Amino acid sequence: MAWGTSNESNQDAVTLLLAGPPSRLGVWSQAFQMDSRFRVVTLATDPQDLQAKLSYNPEVILLDAAIFSGPEPLTQFLTRVQGAAYVVLPGGVPDEIIRPIREMTSVKGVFVGDVNIPDLSARIMAEIGALRSQAPALAGQARWQQTATTIGGLRVITVWNRAGGTGKSTIATALALDAAQRGFKTLLVGLSAPDVSLPTFLNLKTTPNLSLWLSRPTFADGIQPAVQSFGGLDVLVGLQDSLREKDLLQKPEEQSSINSLAIAATYGGYAVIIFDTPVSGCYPSAISASNTLVLVSNPTIDHAVITAEAYRVVFQKLAGQHRVGASNVFVVLNRGRNGLLGMNEWHEAARAFAQSAGLTAFPPVTAVIPEIPEVAVTANAGRSVLTASENFARPIHKLGDLLFGQKTSDNGFRSDAGVVKLGPIRIRKG
Ligand SMILES: Nc1ncnc2c1ncn2[C@@H]1O[C@H](COP(=O)(O)OP(=O)(O)O)[C@@H](O)[C@H]1O
Ligand SMILES: [Mg+2]
Repeated sequence: MAWGTSNESNQDAVTLLLAGPPSRLGVWSQAFQMDSRFRVVTLATDPQDLQAKLSYNPEVILLDAAIFSGPEPLTQFLTRVQGAAYVVLPGGVPDEIIRPIREMTSVKGVFVGDVNIPDLSARIMAEIGALRSQAPALAGQARWQQTATTIGGLRVITVWNRAGGTGKSTIATALALDAAQRGFKTLLVGLSAPDVSLPTFLNLKTTPNLSLWLSRPTFADGIQPAVQSFGGLDVLVGLQDSLREKDLLQKPEEQSSINSLAIAATYGGYAVIIFDTPVSGCYPSAISASNTLVLVSNPTIDHAVITAEAYRVVFQKLAGQHRVGASNVFVVLNRGRNGLLGMNEWHEAARAFAQSAGLTAFPPVTAVIPEIPEVAVTANAGRSVLTASENFARPIHKLGDLLFGQKTSDNGFRSDAGVVKLGPIRIRKG
């Protein structure tokens, strides 16, 4: 197995915008996000939202027309679409309405009632292949621009390991601050119960918190009013009552699950969602809601083994329950000190354990961070941990380059106000 960066592995994926009622989007997004040929860049549930999200420049829009009040607003919308549109019309729509929609330039397919996703996927791949070779502009930006970025649409990141104290909350916080500084609308979510870390590290109150989402699981009632902000970063502090930990163990399809939270946050315009995930309990739910995994470890033999075990859990025990590709696993070796393992020794120990457990490979170490006393001091004072030390911030920014793409402020990718243009996609600033 090759360890490409996410950039290499996803470069040719077809970018996709899914629009429709929430029930439909749940099914569609699950199906397409499992399929590496596609990259779902955003979701929309109403016409206004959909209009705004055209700024993502998706190659393909899959649209359930039921969100429009009738054929006129639908037709009006379709005239503004640049990519290829596939439209599902409500059952029973008469032919004289279907025909003009089918004939619009942007419309590549019209279905009535429902659509078979495997068939549609194959058809999109064939048609986009043809469109790309005819008109490269349709496939987004030029090649040289694509190489300047690595973000593959939404990033939903689980920061996790099976051991406490390795720096999971610290790294989750630092990555979220880094993403927000790049101009992405970012949500950091604490999944520990009680969540002591995020309120302390970011000088936030313990309420409102995630309990609001559990009682009112919609964006408007359960996320927006529950979010606290630290600079440009939005934070959803975790539950404070450890007895409620089990409330986070819901199946992905349930209304107040972590999976539903990620989808609702996406509707709300978040481009980066980071879960600070505890050692035990809800980690399978967090992983199943994510497309990226950051494993934070320390440079000792026992932590190498624990990390390899965490990796095994994700790719053996939880296989099929998530859409994290092996190339979207990033290992951070934190709290390095003299006398502990070097990066290569650590990797060899983890790889050997993984191999003995029947895995053919183990991801490389992406970032190495030393033990820096100022990190703990800064975090405990409630100040941005990125300001603690250059030796901490530098590896975090490097990891941020891989996860989120280059900085937007200094490379000329900024376009019209409020929209960051970044390689093949554009992301609306919050
Ligand atoms: N690179 C580092 N240097 C020094 N202290 C660190 C570093 N990373 C984390 N810490 C400190 O270690 C402690 C545990 O970190 P935390 O992020 O809470 O771990 P976890 O979430 O994995 O339990 C905290 O006090 C934190 O400030
Ligand atoms: Mg923690």
